[in-house]
Amino acid sequence: MNSTVIELIEASASRLADAGVAFGHGTDNAFDEAAWLVLWQLRLPIDDIDDAADRPVSPADAARVAVLIDTRIDTRKPAAYLTKEAWLQGVSFYVDERAIVPRSFIAELLADGSIDHWLGEHTLQVLDLCTGNGSLAVLAAMTYPDVQVTAADISTEALEVAAINVARHQLDGRITLVESDGLSALPGPWDLILCNPPYVNTGSMAALPAEYLAEPSLALAGGNDGMDFVRSLLRAAPAVMNETAVLVLEIGNERDHFETAFPTLEAIWLETAAGEDQVMLLTRDAIARANAGSPASTL
Ligand SMILES: C[S@@+](CC[C@H](N)C(=O)[O-])C[C@H]1O[C@@H](n2cnc3c(N)ncnc32)[C@H](O)[C@@H]1O
Repeated sequence: MNSTVIELIEASASRLADAGVAFGHGTDNAFDEAAWLVLWQLRLPIDDIDDAADRPVSPADAARVAVLIDTRIDTRKPAAYLTKEAWLQGVSFYVDERAIVPRSFIAELLADGSIDHWLGEHTLQVLDLCTGNGSLAVLAAMTYPDVQVTAADISTEALEVAAINVARHQLDGRITLVESDGLSALPGPWDLILCNPPYVNTGSMAALPAEYLAEPSLALAGGNDGMDFVRSLLRAAPAVMNETAVLVLEIGNERDHFETAFPTLEAIWLETAAGEDQVMLLTRDAIARANAGSPASTL
């Protein structure tokens, strides 16, 4: 007898949970991960379980789903690397192992208007530093129709993936891709910098589940306290920011390390689904003041 879509999702979720796979690349539980993989394999819309739930699934399709779930368990690759697609704020992005799976909370802030207060007609040049697969650059270009976006990364491979997404969303005329180590090839001046950099500290890197090890380590590792990239970014940023420019910076679970590294920096923490500890807004003046008050060795 044919099983239904919902039965297949529930059975697949049990298999994922029993195998102890880790989540965090677009879903945070076995049911949602199973739903994503099952619906994708069956070529059904992944955002409408209710509509698909009672559909019968042929034995051949059920077998294809089983193979996909086997692959997820055996390889421990994030689902997005198997489907070659990730979703952020309802927008679809291509992704493969050349770039980290996009999941930045900055996407949420672009969508809900949280940073609009600091922007205005003067906001024309936007930089997405550490762009990975280009998702934040694409979302920024979609959110702010009058801006030009530069999407930069040190990784040639990540930029190849970003180019696919820029083309997919027909934004070639508005997004420029640049290979750059930090701000070195990005003189600006910028009105808005978005940055979701590598920030995972060395201790946390050693404890990451296999799913995260499938991603480029360049995208995650931030040195001993996670702040290596952020330190050099903050040192260089004021010189390439216009007077009214702001930097929106994500630091994951590293707020303690951040505050230890930059004790005088006046950060404005922004609320996202992850809480009020993961993304901050920094004005150019605040960064410059902190730089002026810090010995070169700390900032
Ligand atoms: C956490 S990922 C963020 C990717 C993307 N913005 C996102 O949110 O999905 C960090 C990115 O920083 C890039 N990166 C690492 N070191 C860098 C450096 N020194 N200069 C520029 N980019 C760097 C990595 O290649 C990676 O794509």
